[in-house]
Amino acid sequence: MRVLIFGATGMLGKALMRRWSGDEVIGLGSSQADIRVPEQVSSAVRQAQPAWIVLAAAYTDVDGCDINPSVAKAVNTQGAINVTQAAAEAGARLLFVSTDYVFDGRKTTAYEADDPRQPINVYGKCKAEAEERIVGILPGCCIARTSWLFGPGGKCFPDTILKLAATRPEIDVVNDQRGCPTYTFDLADAIIKLCRSGACGIIHCTNSGECTWYEFAAEILRHAGSQTQVRPTTSERFVRPAERPKYSALSPASLTACGISMRDWQRTVPDYLQQRASLSDEA
Ligand SMILES: NC(=O)c1ccc[n+]([C@@H]2O[C@H](COP(=O)([O-])OP(=O)(O)OC[C@H]3O[C@@H](n4cnc5c(N)ncnc54)[C@H](OP(=O)(O)O)[C@@H]3O)[C@@H](O)[C@H]2O)c1
Repeated sequence: MRVLIFGATGMLGKALMRRWSGDEVIGLGSSQADIRVPEQVSSAVRQAQPAWIVLAAAYTDVDGCDINPSVAKAVNTQGAINVTQAAAEAGARLLFVSTDYVFDGRKTTAYEADDPRQPINVYGKCKAEAEERIVGILPGCCIARTSWLFGPGGKCFPDTILKLAATRPEIDVVNDQRGCPTYTFDLADAIIKLCRSGACGIIHCTNSGECTWYEFAAEILRHAGSQTQVRPTTSERFVRPAERPKYSALSPASLTACGISMRDWQRTVPDYLQQRASLSDEA
């Protein structure tokens, strides 16, 4: 089958391009098609005539979205609507990549796919609205929600921690936000399986297990053999423009129902470190 990926130049997009074999895959970045511009999107879709469109393009700077809400809405809501309309016109299936930040974080057990959306920041609000609007246009679309993405070749939490650890003896990391770290290569594999199986509806796709950012940082530095100490701190002492949910772990039930499972996040850390090292060897 032919697949068209919007956001192929991003962290997840790069993993999708690396992992997807056996199908014809066309990947586009924003310089080839700006999803805010309907004509650019429909022209790209008409040219590619894909069976599936994977929408991994987004404005992912969570604080930036709070600071520039009009850009956030243009890319993350209207952009998603533009891609969905083009998919509907071309008769293509759509997989939209969404986020744990559609929830407010007040639950204490993992969020299920049918839990009500209650976003608390602009990024989450734009994604939540996109989810609602695209289902209205293409009821058979697939919404793959993920969280705490990290992978080689992208600006991500482990990369930041490793860079800080290279120059500091101690790092303070928040210990009062819990979620599911998700390795881009594992998510790419799950997305490929979902498309191949013709999945539809909302599906939660994260690596198994949950932790705080502090625990995540400690695991990264332990595997990296770093001497830097990680110290737990609180969100109150680390104020940022956009509020984050305190708890946003996603239940794997919807993914398991598709016959797909994703390994524990701890097991992905050595793979990430290895891929990151091989990228810096290439540079
Ligand atoms: N990062 C996370 O922790 C996280 C968590 C939950 C969900 N997600 C979701 O997962 C998906 C992938 O995230 P990511 O971290 O891989 O993103 P990323 O690394 O920030 O990459 C963003 C991608 O979107 C493209 N893009 C941005 N604005 C665009 C526009 N106006 N038109 C067309 N393309 C545009 C970028 O293209 P250029 O580089 O060519 O400009 C790039 O390919 C997104 O839907 C995101 O919301 C991410």
